[in-house]
Amino acid sequence: MESHITYKNTTMFSRETYIQRRARLVADMKYHGETGLLLFLGNDEAGMNYTDNTYPYRQDSTFLYFFGIDSAGLSATVDIDEGISTVFGDELTIDDIVWMGSQPTIREKCDKAGVDRTEPLSMLKDHVQRALNKGRMVHFLPAYRPEHTLKIFDLTGLPEQAQSENVSIPFVKSVVNMRNYKSPEEIDQIEEAVDISVKMHQAMMRMVRPGISEAEVAAAVTEIALREGSGLSFPVIATVNGQTLHNHYHGNTLQEGDLFLLDAGAENSMHYAGDLSSTAPVSKHFTQQQRMIYDMALHAHMTGVDALRPGVAFREIHLKVAETIAADLKSIGLVTGDPAEVAHEGAYAIFFPCGLGHMMGLDVHDMENLGEVWVGYDGHPKSATFGFKSLRLARPLEPGFVLTIEPGIYFIPELIDLWRNQGKFKNFLNYDEIEKFKGFGGLRNEEDYLITPDGKRRLGHLYKPMTADEVEAMKQ
Ligand code: GLY
Ligand code: MN
Repeated sequence: MESHITYKNTTMFSRETYIQRRARLVADMKYHGETGLLLFLGNDEAGMNYTDNTYPYRQDSTFLYFFGIDSAGLSATVDIDEGISTVFGDELTIDDIVWMGSQPTIREKCDKAGVDRTEPLSMLKDHVQRALNKGRMVHFLPAYRPEHTLKIFDLTGLPEQAQSENVSIPFVKSVVNMRNYKSPEEIDQIEEAVDISVKMHQAMMRMVRPGISEAEVAAAVTEIALREGSGLSFPVIATVNGQTLHNHYHGNTLQEGDLFLLDAGAENSMHYAGDLSSTAPVSKHFTQQQRMIYDMALHAHMTGVDALRPGVAFREIHLKVAETIAADLKSIGLVTGDPAEVAHEGAYAIFFPCGLGHMMGLDVHDMENLGEVWVGYDGHPKSATFGFKSLRLARPLEPGFVLTIEPGIYFIPELIDLWRNQGKFKNFLNYDEIEKFKGFGGLRNEEDYLITPDGKRRLGHLYKPMTADEVEAMKQ
């Protein structure tokens, strides 16, 4: 019987997709000599201020990738040796149905993902304990929610510290090695999310003017994400203080002469992310100085885009972009010395303290919970130096990677003061000239790209205005 559906009717890929993904994962683990059980912890509802007042529900991305089921209260195992997948969960009680509506049974949901077996949640511990008692390996991924830590403790007896030391690196590597390469059906989903994100940015460009608040812009772009997808892929950054990289304060009123920075993306109904940034003048036009710095940031952006192709290390592209920023700022006297050296030594980071971009997929920073070293560095160590330490992606690019390009130019007063007082990079930075930009703020553009066998393709079917002229035209 069709119920009065009050739950979200999620879309899934075909059951073959999930069957094949799990089979590939098992094959990869076996290939690396691994045996035992793979444990997948789905996410639960999380109370915001009391149990029944929950945060918007978000399923774990790895659970979504291998099982596709967008419901709370589930966990799963895949037996590497027997190739059997089992989902553990409890059916709704009559109280659940009275308050939240009916849902398909767990068996019905699992059929859509080709899952072999279903069991009540209480059986998960038995299942794991039986494996451990036989001396079998139980592979688990890093916990990023407190309840993951509690569950792993309950299932395996390992306290928190021992859990981090016993995360299954082969499991992490196999998952990353699959999720890093997006399939054509995933690309379609990402492009849908990017298209919604473009509409959010176009709306921002149309609406920013003196007298409205940052909160109004944040609300307008959030409305688009909610109307057209499942919501936001991360909290909106809508600010007249673009120099603060992740600025979630929305209390300012826009004033004539301000620069407005929006960094916002939608998550589509299948939970794939879009992630775009734009900068627009609050007045009808950029000031001459704003346009000059905007054009430099765009030059850096296009330098990054032009360099995208398989085989090129993203770290090299980051350095090339840093060098471009240094050369352009040298042309107006803020930088001295050789721009390539400014980039390699890390002096550029006073203007561009973050990374050029990151992988994107089911998570906006894809699989950050599994470790950037595995996702973006292929196991190689990450630099701890200011600037380079925020580069989330460094490895050579390969077809199927989806990533963002988001260089910016930022004037952060506290950083300028600190470095000046420390005399840091005095040979590369002209602090007297930099001082003059202390009140400028910061700006960036951001787009999402797929690496293709012969280069790259910008994702999305809609165009986000990029040049200063295009942005101004959008405001008319
Ligand atoms: N768009 C937010 C970030 O990439 O960190
Ligand atoms: Mn980003």
